[in-house]
Amino acid sequence: MAKRQFAVTVAGGGSTFTPGIALMLLKERDRFPIRKIMFYDNDAERQEIVAKACEIYLRENAPEIEFGYTTDPETAFTDIDFVLAHIRVGKYAMREKDEKIPMKYGVVGQETCGPGGIAYGMRSIGGVIEILDYMEKYSPNAWMLNYSNPAAIVAEATRRLRPNSKILNICDMPIDLEEKMANMVGLKSRKEMQVGYYGLNHFGWWHKIYDKDGNDLMPEIKKHVAENGFADGIAETNQHVDDSWKETFRKARDVYAVDPSTIPNTYLKYYLYPDYVVEHTDPNHTRANEVMEGREKQVFGACRDIIAKGTAKDGGFEADAHATYIVDLACAIAENTQERFLLIVPNEGAVENFDRTAMVEIPCIVGSNGYERIAQGAIPQFQKSLMEQQVGVEKLVVEAWIEGSYQKMWQALTLSKIVPSARVAKLILDDLIEANKGYWPELK
Ligand code: NAD
Ligand code: G6P
Ligand code: MN
Repeated sequence: MAKRQFAVTVAGGGSTFTPGIALMLLKERDRFPIRKIMFYDNDAERQEIVAKACEIYLRENAPEIEFGYTTDPETAFTDIDFVLAHIRVGKYAMREKDEKIPMKYGVVGQETCGPGGIAYGMRSIGGVIEILDYMEKYSPNAWMLNYSNPAAIVAEATRRLRPNSKILNICDMPIDLEEKMANMVGLKSRKEMQVGYYGLNHFGWWHKIYDKDGNDLMPEIKKHVAENGFADGIAETNQHVDDSWKETFRKARDVYAVDPSTIPNTYLKYYLYPDYVVEHTDPNHTRANEVMEGREKQVFGACRDIIAKGTAKDGGFEADAHATYIVDLACAIAENTQERFLLIVPNEGAVENFDRTAMVEIPCIVGSNGYERIAQGAIPQFQKSLMEQQVGVEKLVVEAWIEGSYQKMWQALTLSKIVPSARVAKLILDDLIEANKGYWPELK
């Protein structure tokens, strides 16, 4: 019997990741057959550049796949099986403000952590919910695989506002870090490891790592991380290659030192070493500038080149090898593979001694009926206390968005571990409100 063929909508068609994802989908067609790819974005001009180049590539390499791009929700979301969502509400111009405004007050400015992440969250909630609603209206049986950031806040918002929707929130940071750890112990792939992990998104720890025979890999991995973090002596993956990322991988050594019984997610550096991060950040040239000068320029340059030549035959495009986890996830749903993934899901007791309503990042088994949590037991005092503070921030942001509450936003910023006081929180908040006019709900 011929395998079922799937229709996929990429939401955030103008994203720098879209060409890599489209090529990856083509490459993986044997296990995940595609009949239609549709791009959707609310910025027609930006999307058109990416879409026209992908159209040429697809015509040359897979003419049998139906392809289209649109800003019209009905066209985008009708007759589809999956939505792959990676939108950035406000684009890099707003990411730059998220990073630079806190820095004015000597506070870490980061895409997903602290005030920057809070500001981005207030912009993203509406955008992601809107796409979810379009999907449910036009293709009620479809699934949304969401990796739009800030995933922690977005996930909490979907839990509160759309608790029964078919959405899986996932992050790629653990994927890259697990590849690096597999490499440290001489395994070919992270898929040869089975892990225990708990935390919030961009805020978690590995507490168990075994190989396929059940051997404990933690001692050898810890030895490497204690000396080099996630850097040095291991092969580079094809993602997170800029110098600032290498620095983050090295800094994981100091993050690890705070609790050598677990292996930390790299994002914890912003919470445990904020002073160091601020000292090592140029307030006039942040990660957003690096990305605009690097990845954005490169991807859009390649697209324009393909369009000008009318062919994609001379290269310029590359499949995003590491994004195959998205196809793994789609296959798990489509074919009931019961594969394990780290997902961001309501806790419901999986982390025994932690808020049942928190959106936690934990291993889950995924099949055609969705996910089942794998219980992680009780967690240590240190992690539990950090997570309680951080989950409070995330919940307050979502409440502030729903209620339009200035007070709750001020509390969220004040609670954030990397904001030193309520006074600084208010100064940052007032600047962020000004910068986010038209993106945030009005706060009273
Ligand atoms: P980008 O700015 O290049 O692309 C985002 C696109 O989304 C833009 O074309 C923009 O016009 C579009 N968009 C914004 N608001 C929209 C809306 N309401 N509806 C439809 N489209 C909208 O950004 P990028 O750097 O390519 O990143 C895209 C997203 O993927 C970001 O949210 C980023 O944080 C996320 N990301 C997540 C992970 C993860 O691990 N979860 C990994 C990489 C990137
Ligand atoms: C990791 C995280 C993502 C984040 C990205 C930022 O992959 O898991 O959530 O969006 O890094 O990378 P960038 O290159 O845009 O700074
Ligand atoms: Mn992430």
